[in-house]
Amino acid sequence: MTLSNFQRFLWLSVLLFIQPHPTFGLISDGFIVTNPPPLGICASAVTRYGYKCQEIDVTTEDGYILSVQRIPAGRNGGGGGGGRNRQPVLLQHGVLVDGMTWLLNSPEQSLALILADNGYDVWIANTRGTSYSRRHVSLDPNKPEFWDWTWDEIAARDLPAVIAYIFQQTGQKIHYVGHSLGTLIALASFSELKQIDKMKSAALLSPIAYLSHMTTALGVVAAKVFVGEITIVFGLAEFNPKGDDVSRFLKALCADPKVDCYDLMTALTGKNCCLNASTVDVFLRSEPQSTSTKNLVHLAQTVRDGVLAKYDYGNPAFNIEHYGMPMPPIYNLSNIPKDFPLFISYGGRDALSDPKDVANLLDDLKLHDEGKLSVQYIKEFAHADFIMGVTAKDVIYDKIISFFQRNQ
Ligand SMILES: *[C@@H]1O[C@H](CO)[C@@H](O)[C@H](O)[C@H]1NC(C)=O
Ligand SMILES: *[C@@H]1O[C@H](CO)[C@@H](O)[C@H](O)[C@H]1NC(C)=O
Repeated sequence: MTLSNFQRFLWLSVLLFIQPHPTFGLISDGFIVTNPPPLGICASAVTRYGYKCQEIDVTTEDGYILSVQRIPAGRNGGGGGGGRNRQPVLLQHGVLVDGMTWLLNSPEQSLALILADNGYDVWIANTRGTSYSRRHVSLDPNKPEFWDWTWDEIAARDLPAVIAYIFQQTGQKIHYVGHSLGTLIALASFSELKQIDKMKSAALLSPIAYLSHMTTALGVVAAKVFVGEITIVFGLAEFNPKGDDVSRFLKALCADPKVDCYDLMTALTGKNCCLNASTVDVFLRSEPQSTSTKNLVHLAQTVRDGVLAKYDYGNPAFNIEHYGMPMPPIYNLSNIPKDFPLFISYGGRDALSDPKDVANLLDDLKLHDEGKLSVQYIKEFAHADFIMGVTAKDVIYDKIISFFQRNQ
């Protein structure tokens, strides 16, 4: 017997919406209160393990107030070095999630805490619109104006604000670790020669640049919808995966026979090899998080067009108004300085960062200085294994630390 699409949707709802969340607060009649959770990331996932952690607000040039966490030392003050001897590392999460993604496993398995224990001064970013960064000096997150941005602005406003703050506080160049969209915004910035003067190196996990070969069924169907009717349904406002409109939208997507909504994690990210079921539960409770609909439209344009360009306003006149040219400008990744240390790690089963798209990215980097580009291919890894895999420490994180050590 096959379940009806509606039953599938109920399963998805159970996964996504119905579980109580220790920091997210209340669910009543299926309605989730999306106010910022009372505990910050430090209190809910760092200090309880014996690490110091500071909550910091950083304001972007366009007025978004971003939540940033700093873990300045290892467990119980360990991890060697003190103050200025510790090199700063910035961790940048992907789309529809926030900085919590680096802290879902046990301290021995979570990249943020592993880096702190290995002598790094760890900084965790939370991009605009995520639950702790849902603030602005004048705009109201409940109004569409707050959501008028895409990853162009995350690259051009959020990233520079956070990097400038860390640079100013530590007086040191920064190592970077990005996952998923966190790799795209770094690549986009570096291709415009921005931020790179303040960076020591960058480790890019599940790199996303080109997206034309994406295999995730839910993603492919969603991408088609996003360049089509979606903006009529939502307007260019908040895309809140926990809200009513989006659950209706997901219900419609899950009705597509190509999409398997029984297993949302697999539907979205590919067949992860090494996830801990309890971690996945924690993940599904704290994520997914809001982003702007316009951001998803922009990503869908990347899937459709096969090039990496700024947001396409949809007609030449509007593009001329914004960019002074009829087509949106391209981010040319070949412009990334050839001597900038890069570590790229990608997975054979990653449905979002498909090996064919990664091959395109590597092709753009083919003239990179030998010795400045390390590439790691992990056959059995899918998208979420990079941040939550129980074997990720041995397979990747130890290599990131050696890469940072080679590029101090
Ligand atoms: C999975 O997570 C649980 C709860 O945090 C933990 O007790 C267990 O050791 C983890 N398993 C593995 C293989 O890491
Ligand atoms: C990107 O830049 C490289 C060299 O800097 C150039 O050869 C190439 O044509 C450019 N690509 C695009 C799409 O503009």
